[in-house]
This record gives sequence, structure tokens and C-alpha cells, in this order.
Amino acid sequence: MTAKIEIIGPQKINGAVHISGAKNAALPLLAASLLSNDSLLLKNIPPLVDVRTMLSLLEELGVSFHIISDSVVSQTISLKTDSVNNFTAPYEIVKKMRASILILGPLLSKFGVCTVSLPGGCAIGVRPIDLHLKGMEALGAKIELKDGYVHATAPNGLRGAEIDFPIVTVTGTENILMAAVLASGTTVLKNAAREPEVVDLANCLNKMGADISGHGTDTIIVNGVANLHHAEHSVVPDRIEAGTYAIAAGITGGAVDLLGGNLRELLPSFIEKMEQTGLIFSDIDNGLRVQSSGNIYPIDISTEPYPGFPTDLQAQTMAMLCLADGISNICENIWENRFMHVAELLRMGADIEIHNAHAKVSGVKKLTGAQVMATDLRASFSLVLAALAANGKTVIDRVYHLDRGYSCVKEKLAGCGVVINRL
Ligand code: EPU
Repeated sequence: MTAKIEIIGPQKINGAVHISGAKNAALPLLAASLLSNDSLLLKNIPPLVDVRTMLSLLEELGVSFHIISDSVVSQTISLKTDSVNNFTAPYEIVKKMRASILILGPLLSKFGVCTVSLPGGCAIGVRPIDLHLKGMEALGAKIELKDGYVHATAPNGLRGAEIDFPIVTVTGTENILMAAVLASGTTVLKNAAREPEVVDLANCLNKMGADISGHGTDTIIVNGVANLHHAEHSVVPDRIEAGTYAIAAGITGGAVDLLGGNLRELLPSFIEKMEQTGLIFSDIDNGLRVQSSGNIYPIDISTEPYPGFPTDLQAQTMAMLCLADGISNICENIWENRFMHVAELLRMGADIEIHNAHAKVSGVKKLTGAQVMATDLRASFSLVLAALAANGKTVIDRVYHLDRGYSCVKEKLAGCGVVINRL
């Protein structure tokens, strides 16, 4: 039997939520530990299933780590990589978490060898890794695809190159950035991802002794160095978790204080759009207050690489727009199959039509509880949000997706007067 969540709606969120460190920053940062000759101390790591999966992959490679402190919202972890003796990410781990590909750059750069299972497709799209591989080849790696695995070698080490990405790729940028850090000479990444998680990785690598500039713009310059040393780094707050709880205030007509630092800076397009739908944002000590105005106005959104509207908040935003006063249009430009939540929202009484990458969401007066199924990580929370606003009981099946990327959902919501039950 898979894990389920039962929610009786409607409920209103009212209180404060501590925003954890970003999953999508923590995963590359953990992989970056492989590049160092010394230990790496990472603070504000979110306690998530995906983080545990990355730690078990690193452990399999020979990394030793210990958890120095552990709380509901964050962990401090020290990693040491002086006994790495295995260079393979097996299918069993990669199929659970595609971000396992992030060991490719560090292992190839530091040890000249890495074997990683090809990830295959997933619920939101085909998700190829061709740009990661082309980038490694440009740095001088030899890539062979055999038996469902990528076999990468660089017997003479990697050397700097200019890499111009045809499309923006977040983990692709991170992987090649990590590979370039120990390569000889200068690497220039053009059309690089500008996501705050990429910037966080570059900042940490610089603390470890790397020579990276331009991160946060679309051109990143890496001057290769001979080795990296000990550093301490605190993971950037999770803008997607923050945005998700902001939407909880909007859809339930409530208010929430998001605590975790300068979140406004991390969510420029999202906040602009949410203000148009009627949410009110104000700066508070260590975060942002988000209040519903009592109205949900329809909006049009189009997902884009950062600083555009994040695809990872598309499903949650759609749940709220189901209750807007009019018609909203959503265009999903990043993933070709990221509307799986639509069929579930329809079961709750939503009115949504899909044409290719466009969804037309006609606001309805109310949603009603139903049995629904979580299809991916962000879709899972969109169903939690819809269920909080709906009348009656909703049971969400397959919520293991939720635990991959949101820490302590039940506890965080309970702190804001909202009850969800794990079945
Ligand atoms: N793409 C290629 N070839 C590649 C790489 C990407 O064609 O080699 C395409 C993808 O198929 C997609 C687009 O480029 O259409 C962008 O993909 P990207 O590589 O940026 O995605 P990712 O790095 O695999 C990260 C996040 C995702 C998030 C996307 C977009 C991590 C671990 N994952 O994925 O997060 O949706 O960027 O912002 O950082 C999530 O957290 O729920 C999640 C899916």
C-alpha cells in the first residue's frame, strides 16, 4: 500500500512557516564535495528523501559523512571524500533520483572516470542529458553509451573550453561548472542557467578555492584550479517551498509568514504574478508576510528559466487559479508533460482545458473533495492545496512524491492551524 494523505476542507492557513534550504541547491552542493581534497561542511540542508538518496549514492562511492546537527527544518552535514574508490551511479539509484547525474562532472574532473546509468524518462518529460554529455566532451572527455550506462573517461584530465548551451539547463550548467573547476585553463559557459541554486553552487565552490565569475548572469567564466580545500556553506532558502506556502495563503484566503531570509529576491516573477492575482506581500524580519486579499483574480503565466516564472510552481499556481474569478492561461515551456495534475484537479470540480503546452483554467466557485493521485513532486502539493480549499474529504494517493521535495509538510502546516492526516 502506498502512503496517502487525507484532508478535510475547507481550511485556512494562518501562521508562520520556516522555509528549509533548497533541495535543488543541496543536491549539487552534496555532489560538489567530491571535488575537494578536504572536508565540506554544509548547513541548512533540508531533511528530504532526495537528500538521503544523494547521501547514500555518495556513501556508495566511498564518501564518509556525518550529520552534525539535525532539526525539523535543517541539517548540518560534514562530508569527507578522501576514500572515494567507486565511480559508478547504478540504475537502482538513478531511477529513484535523476539528480544522481550530478556526480558526473565532479568525478570526471577529479578522478578522470565516471559511469552513470542513463536516467530514462519520468512523469514530467523525456528529460534527456545530451547537453551534459556534449559539455563534458567539449572539455575533452570521452563518452561511451553502453548497456544503459554512460561511461565517461578523461585519462589526461579535462581542459577548458567554450560551451554555448542551445537551451538553458539547470543541472547541465551545474554539472559542467563542477567539471570545469579542476580542468586546466578557462571554461566559458554561455546561455548558462541563472537560477539561485546555480549561484549558490558557484558561491560554495569559490569558498572551496575555485575561481568562478559571472554566476547569476548567462555567461559564467571558470578558471581551472589545481585543487579545492575545506569550506563551510549554508544552503540558499528553497524558493519553491516558499512560493508553495504563499499560494496556500492565496487559495485558502489566509496569511502566512515565510521565514528564511531574503525570499523576495529569489522569486521576482512569481511575486509579481501573485500580486496580480490579489496576494499581498510585505517584508518582515527574516522573511516575507503573504496575505490573501480575499479575491483571486485570473492571470496568465508562462514558465521560463530564471528569472522567469518557475515551472516548479506551475502546478500549485494552477490549483489556485481553479478558484479565480475568470479565465487564466498557463503556458508550460520547460517540460513537455507537466500537466498530469490537471486530470486530478478535474476530479475535484475544476474546469481546465489543455491544448499542447497551454492550459485554459476557467475559475469555478468551489472545488469538492475527491480521491486523487499525486503524479510528481510539485503536482502532489498542488493537490494538497486544492484539497485545503475544497469542500469535504480528499484522499491523495502516492504522496511519496511529496516527501522527496517538501520537508515536514504535516508539521509545517500544523504550525499554521492546518490539519492533514497521513494514512
Ligand atoms: N534538456 C535537454 N537536454 C539536456 C538537459 C535538459 O534537452 O541535456 C531539456 C529538458 O528536457 C527540459 C529543459 O532542457 O525541457 C530544461 O531542463 P533542465 O536541465 O533545466 O532541468 P533539470 O536540470 O533536469 C532542474 C530541477 C527541476 C526543474 C528544472 C527547471 C534539479 C535537481 N531539478 O531540472 O526541478 O523543474 O531544473 O527549472 O535542480 C523539481 O524540483 O520538482 C524539479 C523537477
